[in-house]
Amino acid sequence: MPAFTPQTLLSLLTIRNLVLALVAYVLLSWAEQIIRYRFFSPLRDFPGPFWASVTRLWIAYHNLKEDECQVELALHKKHGPVLRITPTMLLVSDASKLPEVYTRNADKSKYYVTGSFGKTESLFNMQSHKVHAHYRKIAAGPYAFSNIKKMEPLVDTRMRAWMRKMEEKFVGTGEVFDFAPWAVFMAYDIISEIGFGAPIGFIEQGEDVGGLIRGFHEGLPAFGLMGRLWPFTYRVKNTRLGEKFLVAKPEDESGIGMLMRFRDKLLAQRRRDIEEGKAGDRLDLLQTFIDARDDDGNPLSDDYIKAEILLVLLAGADTTGTAFQGMIYHVMTNKDIYHRLVHEIETATRDGKIGGMPQYDEVQEACPFYVACVKETMRLNPSAPNIFPRTVGKVGMELEGKFVPEGTEITCNPWLVHRDPAVFGEDAEAFRPERWLEDEEQTKQLNKYNMAFGYGSRTCLGKDIAMMELYKGPLLFFRDFTPHLADEKKPGVWTVKGGVAFWRDMWMTLEKRSALTFYTIASGPLQFTRWRDEGVFKDAMLTGYSAMNAREILAFMLHAQ
Ligand code: HEM
Repeated sequence: MPAFTPQTLLSLLTIRNLVLALVAYVLLSWAEQIIRYRFFSPLRDFPGPFWASVTRLWIAYHNLKEDECQVELALHKKHGPVLRITPTMLLVSDASKLPEVYTRNADKSKYYVTGSFGKTESLFNMQSHKVHAHYRKIAAGPYAFSNIKKMEPLVDTRMRAWMRKMEEKFVGTGEVFDFAPWAVFMAYDIISEIGFGAPIGFIEQGEDVGGLIRGFHEGLPAFGLMGRLWPFTYRVKNTRLGEKFLVAKPEDESGIGMLMRFRDKLLAQRRRDIEEGKAGDRLDLLQTFIDARDDDGNPLSDDYIKAEILLVLLAGADTTGTAFQGMIYHVMTNKDIYHRLVHEIETATRDGKIGGMPQYDEVQEACPFYVACVKETMRLNPSAPNIFPRTVGKVGMELEGKFVPEGTEITCNPWLVHRDPAVFGEDAEAFRPERWLEDEEQTKQLNKYNMAFGYGSRTCLGKDIAMMELYKGPLLFFRDFTPHLADEKKPGVWTVKGGVAFWRDMWMTLEKRSALTFYTIASGPLQFTRWRDEGVFKDAMLTGYSAMNAREILAFMLHAQ
């Protein structure tokens, strides 16, 4: 046998052999991972597709293919309420399990990749529940309903501008336009007004300023993949390539880069205004963050304020726009619901229960069917039909008679939970707003297991802002305009990218809602005009029809009384 010398070793070191060794290493590691996850994982007995149990590429693939929710729904119907959707993650569709999955002490899983929107973390990405609780206490002030209520006039100003623009551009012009971006224009201008006291200018310019909406949508597939492939993401994030592509910076040409620059400019301006005593009594979120103090009375750092304000823009505009689009879609594609809704809005207006610019509490009080339509929209088409994973705490938990150990990633998805027939009814897949109004006990249950804004202690802080917009925008739209779909067969397309939803291609024309009602009497048409004063309908009769005689008019008036 020939001796094994350093020379023989060197002779084996060819490029070909190195490549072969690398391929063998990758294949062996992969095989080891498959065997470990499939046969030795504590989650091995939970049902789900084979590939999902051994690699995160399964969920990444369906996320990219934009059919993750539908595939998981079909799997739940086959296997029951708990599925293994990655080697380390369980998905639960049983709505009654929400309180257990989202307990107060649950940490967010590593799916929430830290540092992707800058080095300083905002509330959304903080993984530790303890760190989060500390900062949430501080943010509770700015987001408190009493504070948000004070901002309602800011919302109203933008809402009026939006309605004016819609009327100018589309009413009576016959122009066929896509409603979808217009809903987001409104949401962005409102959120930037609330956030910094200045609209970005979508409504005024009537276009996607700086390609922000397009840029945001284009970034969504990467956002979906980063979380789903988190071990890989963490590995490359701190490399030079990762820093370049995975960490957003103000210098970036992307939509997020533009938002960051916009935010930095306004914060710098505000700091100057404060120094020069020109800030006055600002009402926006930026000012409340600047004024906020921690337990020791210290102000928040500018880096942290920047992170939270960016979150407001990222979390608050597109999501609200999607719900607005969804409401218009569902109401316009259900004629009976449309008529019932418009009747409710008109009656509440005529009775003086809601004013020219409806207020949040008025709508809640006077328009139960309308409120039910908003809730039903967000139930069936939540703006974030996504996974929101937590890690199971120290004592573990039991699901479907099986033990789930500490550290397991566990999640629900509002799109799936809201289709749980045990809570939402056998017709859970249908748009039926009445389900929210039928019985007090049932309504309580529906509200309890509503996940549209997340669940538990990490639930959305901007809910009141979003609802304030949603209790006004669609209402004004249906009260003032009669929309007509350009093609009844193509009312709009529901799209989910990276776990974030939006509608597109909602082509329509707008007509001013008929202000005239005609009554026919013996000698010809008597025109009955309804006009608005500060939004309240006032009825007035138009005279001047020569064909009519006074007796008939008098008879009509008596009849109309
Ligand atoms: C229809 C509109 C909205 C929807 C559907 C929505 C949805 C959500 C969801 C599902 C979460 C929880 C995420 C998780 O568990 O990981 C969340 C968190 C959050 N949202 Fe919203 N959101 C909306 C509007 C807004 C608005 C308008 C703002 C701000 C002005 C906002 C600010 C936040 C913040 C700060 C958090 C993090 C809360 C925390 O972790 O303590 N959202 N949102």
